[in-house]
Amino acid sequence: MKLLSLEGLRNLLDTLGQEVFYRAVLEALERDFKRWGDFIKTPRLATHYPFGVIELMPCADRQFYTCKYVNGHPGNTAQGKLCVVAIGILADVDSGYPLLISEMTLLTAIRTAAVTALAAQHLARRDSRHLAIIGTGAQSEFQVTMVQRVRDLQSVSYFDPDPRAMDKFARNLAFSGLALLPCRSIQEAVADADMVITATAAKQANDLLQLDWLKSGVHIHAMGGDCPGKTELGLALLRASKIVVEYRPQSLAEGEVQNLDETAVHAELWQLLTGELAGRENATEITLFDAVGFALEDFSMIKLLYDFSQQSAYQHFFDDIAMLPEMADPKDLYGCFMPGRKAH
Ligand SMILES: NC(=O)c1ccc[n+]([C@@H]2O[C@H](COP(=O)([O-])OP(=O)(O)OC[C@H]3O[C@@H](n4cnc5c(N)ncnc54)[C@H](O)[C@@H]3O)[C@@H](O)[C@H]2O)c1
Repeated sequence: MKLLSLEGLRNLLDTLGQEVFYRAVLEALERDFKRWGDFIKTPRLATHYPFGVIELMPCADRQFYTCKYVNGHPGNTAQGKLCVVAIGILADVDSGYPLLISEMTLLTAIRTAAVTALAAQHLARRDSRHLAIIGTGAQSEFQVTMVQRVRDLQSVSYFDPDPRAMDKFARNLAFSGLALLPCRSIQEAVADADMVITATAAKQANDLLQLDWLKSGVHIHAMGGDCPGKTELGLALLRASKIVVEYRPQSLAEGEVQNLDETAVHAELWQLLTGELAGRENATEITLFDAVGFALEDFSMIKLLYDFSQQSAYQHFFDDIAMLPEMADPKDLYGCFMPGRKAH
C-alpha cells in the first residue's frame, strides 16, 4: 500500500510545477463530473459538535472506492490549528484492499478551488475582471489562484476582520499579477466586483452580502457555509439568484439552500458541465454557486494522485507502508501473529 505524505505531495508539485498540476486537477474534476451516472453517491456522514464537525465522505465507481476524513472547526485557528484538515483513502473495489492513503488537507483546498473555477466557467460573466473575496483564511489564495485559470482577472478586493489574515493574503499573492485591494468592510470589497467568493468560517447563520451592495450580473461563489445552521447568505439574496449546487441531497441539508426548498435549485454542477442545463444566460442575472464540498471531488483528487503513484517518474514520491498483513495462507491471520512468527 502507498502513502502520500504532505512532504511527498509538495515534492511532487515541485517536480510537476503548479500550473501542470492545477490543469490536471481541473481536467480530472471535469471528467468525473461529466460521468456523474457512473458513481455511487451518498451525502456525507457528518457528526456535529457545538464547536465543529467531523465528516466521512465516501464515493465509488466500478473500479475504485474512496473516502475522506475531514473536519471543520472554525475556532481552531485561535488555538494555532487549521480549521480544516483531511486524510483520504483509495481502495480497489474488486478485492476491497486499500491501495493509497493520502494527505488531503492541501488537496482539499486545491479541489475546492477547482470546483470554484469550474462553476465560474459556466456562471461568471466572461468579461469578469474584478474578484472580491470575503474571508482570507487558509482556503483563500487557492480560490483566487484557480479562478485566474478560467477568467482574465485584473484585481481582487478582500476583507477579513482579522488584519493578520489580510496581510498574509497580500503577502502570498504579491506576485499573482493582480491588483490587490484591501478593504475595510464587506460592502466596500464587493462594490465593484464581477465575482464574489465568500470563504468565511463561523458556526452560525450569517447574512454577509446585501443585494443592493452588488453589481448587476455578479456571480457569487459561497463556499464557507457547509453545515446545518452554518450559512453565509440571507434569503433575499438567495431568492434573487440562479442557484447551482454540487449534489442536491447534501446541499439541501448543508448548503445555503437549506433555508429554501428543492425548487430553488436550478441545476447540479454536472448538468452545466455536460450542457444538459444552461449556466449563465444573460449579463444581468445574479448567479450563485452554493458549494459545500462533495465526495466525488475527493474521489477525483485521490484517483489523480493514485495515477501518479503508478508512473515510474513519480512513484518515488509515494512511500510503501506495511499496513496490510501478507501471508502464505490468507486464512491463517491468527498464526501469523503467534509468538516467534514474523508478521509482514
Ligand atoms: N465548500 C467546501 O468544499 C469547503 C472546503 C473547505 C473549507 N470550507 C469552509 O470554508 C470556510 C473557510 O475555510 P478556511 O480553511 O479558509 O478557514 P479559516 O479559519 O482559515 O479562515 C476563515 C476566515 O474567515 C474570516 N471570517 C470569519 N467571519 C468573517 C466575516 N463575517 N467576514 C469576513 N471574514 C470572516 C476569519 O477571520 C478567517 O480569517 C470554513 O467554513 C470551511 O468549513 C468549505
